[in-house]
Amino acid sequence: MTDIATAGTFPLGHRRVTRLGYGAMQLAGPGVFGPPKDRAAAIAVLREAVAQGVDHIDTSDFYGPHVTNQLIRTALHPYPDDLVIVTKVGALRGPDASWNPAFSAEALTQAVHDNLRNLGVDVLDVVNLRLMFDVHGPAEGAIEAPLTVLAELQNRGLIRQIGLSNATRRQVAEGRRITEIVCVQNQYNLAHRGDDALIDELAATGTAYVPFFPLGGFSPLQSTALSAVAARLGATPMQVALAWLLRRAPHILLIPGTSSVAHLRENLAAATLTLPEDVIAELDRIGAASERG
Ligand SMILES: NC(=O)c1ccc[n+]([C@@H]2O[C@H](COP(=O)([O-])OP(=O)(O)OC[C@H]3O[C@@H](n4cnc5c(N)ncnc54)[C@H](OP(=O)(O)O)[C@@H]3O)[C@@H](O)[C@H]2O)c1
Repeated sequence: MTDIATAGTFPLGHRRVTRLGYGAMQLAGPGVFGPPKDRAAAIAVLREAVAQGVDHIDTSDFYGPHVTNQLIRTALHPYPDDLVIVTKVGALRGPDASWNPAFSAEALTQAVHDNLRNLGVDVLDVVNLRLMFDVHGPAEGAIEAPLTVLAELQNRGLIRQIGLSNATRRQVAEGRRITEIVCVQNQYNLAHRGDDALIDELAATGTAYVPFFPLGGFSPLQSTALSAVAARLGATPMQVALAWLLRRAPHILLIPGTSSVAHLRENLAAATLTLPEDVIAELDRIGAASERG
């Protein structure tokens, strides 16, 4: 068993969490739609994560839909006191598995209630507003109206803390003028480094940055340089990719996703992997090459 506390902790709003967490999206069926192919295995992954010390799980009621939240509830309710469950709202799934924006006050309120019911809680720890001006990446657009709806639900005691996902730097600044933003969840990994400037800005305000697709998402990272470094260090490429993110900045919290207990254990073991300086330089070149390409 890895001591994941080696990775350190960082505040996620009013709660301090271990920097290595878990993302539950991969537990739903293919295309994040429908039930898992192996329900018992999905429950085992969640229980193993908590047994290994994970105290930060990322989810959404639009995974499945409802599937990952219901699995989390089945596997872990009543929840350990130190577990922080972060969910997100702003999208609804179509019958064809499509991801559609859902930003009306009615849709956001419904989404918060769906999360409360399916997770089996009275209040949600953290809710990210998942922006959908472009489903695939941050794009400008005003966020005042939907964020105000979430802030009102927070005032009513249904949400403790609010974050943003798929957000531009301008939207993060706009969000801060409306309510406290405790985390930003955008796509970022060794080979996809478009958020470097935002990450540095968030460091200055002590706001958690939570990269999604830390391992590359639906097409896990593949690079000859990454594999070579991993072989030299006696680690796996995924462990090196996670260790690089941990090393990138202390306010980065990781939520690697997997549907396999073996992969979960492998990923959590990245907590104890130290990367020498020359390796960091080599890994940084992968990001630079991908951005050019
Ligand atoms: N805010 C957003 O818009 C957004 C978007 C996407 C995701 N997210 C969140 O971010 C979390 C992480 O993203 P993600 O799960 O999509 O992508 P990820 O963590 O980058 O990678 C998951 C993929 O890597 C594979 N994998 C995991 N560990 C592995 C290992 N040790 N060796 C080989 N393959 C491995 C998984 O397959 P196996 O199941 O076979 O291990 C899966 O295909 C999600 O769970 C979700 O909570 C948020």
